[in-house]
Amino acid sequence: MRSHEVAAMFVVGGGPGWRPDGWRRDGWRPDGWRRDGWRRDGSRPDGTGRGATRVRSVGWLLVSQPSDALRHAAARPHAPLRTFHPRRIALGKDRQDALRRLFPELGFSVHDEPAFPRRADGKLDAEAMFGRHAPLVLEIGPGMGETTVAMAAADLARDVLAVEAHVPGVANLLVLLQDAGLTNVRVGHGDALDLVRDAIAPGSLDEVRAYFPDPWPKTRHHKRRLVQPAHVALLRSRLRVGGTLHVATDWAEYADQMLEVLTADPDLDCAGFSARPPHRPVTKFEARGAALGHASHDLLATRLR
Ligand SMILES: C[S@@+](CC[C@H](N)C(=O)[O-])C[C@H]1O[C@@H](n2cnc3c(N)ncnc32)[C@H](O)[C@@H]1O
Repeated sequence: MRSHEVAAMFVVGGGPGWRPDGWRRDGWRPDGWRRDGWRRDGSRPDGTGRGATRVRSVGWLLVSQPSDALRHAAARPHAPLRTFHPRRIALGKDRQDALRRLFPELGFSVHDEPAFPRRADGKLDAEAMFGRHAPLVLEIGPGMGETTVAMAAADLARDVLAVEAHVPGVANLLVLLQDAGLTNVRVGHGDALDLVRDAIAPGSLDEVRAYFPDPWPKTRHHKRRLVQPAHVALLRSRLRVGGTLHVATDWAEYADQMLEVLTADPDLDCAGFSARPPHRPVTKFEARGAALGHASHDLLATRLR
């Protein structure tokens, strides 16, 4: 993979000031590009200009051309609100190396190349991806991936698509997978909801899991939450009948919202809060919350029809 291809994976979605046409009101894009081709640090796309050397020396992988992810977002007049905040990322050398080595084999991009194998109907071809026919699990937002790896290692009969928006998490999970020698996980980079909308066939998932999705605590940000009626209906439609939607949070008010949304969906059976099931290890984010005195809530819902 060439460096600009790795770099192109860094920029997804919108942010404050994001306009439907992909440009901020002040003429900048969230990745620091301007309409006239200059970056915020004063460097030019061709690597010349003020700041270019400094930026390279602190280890940024620069976007050497607008990524397909940005073009994709810009092409959609009313792109949905993201459930994550795009961040500019400084990636250490080890993680850059991991991406270069492992992403082509174990990773795929939701929007850019290398993409994923598709069936004739354009949907993701999990059999071609994993080289076998097995129940498929989607994990949204694995973070740094420790829980993903532990669960996949204990459940080798199922395949896992772990889709994370932020590159350091993608890189970390790739390394963990390689260390564990696991072949039943593929790591997607990008917005999992875009992948689900565009490329996951209805009824094709055995389980969807989202552990400790960003709580977006401010009221004006609640519309960015992952667990809300429209997203839940979308995810439920991709589950097989009898498949499971498993969510967990340590944010009490979000837990109440999750309960309300899952129990209100007429095609889901949700018995209410449950204790953490033994097959779900404590996640990194959960452990951080527990240290602050937060209690976790799990919710499992089954697709009824
Ligand atoms: C609060 S962290 C929790 C990480 C991990 N599950 C844990 O419990 O330690 C939420 C993660 O979800 C990711 N995320 C949020 N929305 C996403 C989306 N639509 N697609 C992919 N990843 C997403 C964020 O990048 C972040 O890494």
